[in-house]
Amino acid sequence: MNVIRYSFKPHGCNQGKLVAIEELKDIPFPIRRVYYTYDLKPEDTRGHHAHKTLQQILICINGRCRLKLDNGKEVTTVMLDKPNEGIYIPNTVWREIDDFSPGAVLLILASELYDEADYIRDYSEFLRFVNGNGESDGQ
Ligand code: TYD
Repeated sequence: MNVIRYSFKPHGCNQGKLVAIEELKDIPFPIRRVYYTYDLKPEDTRGHHAHKTLQQILICINGRCRLKLDNGKEVTTVMLDKPNEGIYIPNTVWREIDDFSPGAVLLILASELYDEADYIRDYSEFLRFVNGNGESDGQ
């Protein structure tokens, strides 16, 4: 499946770098929630779900991790290892995240407030959901 990467422009060079991300300008949705995961062990795995409507941008702001994306037809794996690169996850994409490096910090920008009812946590249910929703182009 097609993976959309955003390369955010770092400001400054001699005394560290700064990345600013503005909603609807640098990314395609309004930012209604920000969260991050840290204290991760190499054997940890996160995700294992999809969302009915939520859009997200994942940025590994420290270290490295691996992201598996699955739209129900195709699976793509990408490494997140740049603090100024974001991976866009549209709705109805199953994600799994693993292979965390020591000290990895994963920052997530989300288009909606937290809502457990938006989650699809069962893979069979996910496949039924995407097939029933006419997902046919594999994008
Ligand atoms: P989850 O989204 O399953 O985490 P991940 O995709 O990183 O594996 O959420 C883990 C737990 O945290 C779950 O009990 C719900 C809670 N949570 C919130 O309370 N608010 C939030 O914004 C998020 C993302 C999770």
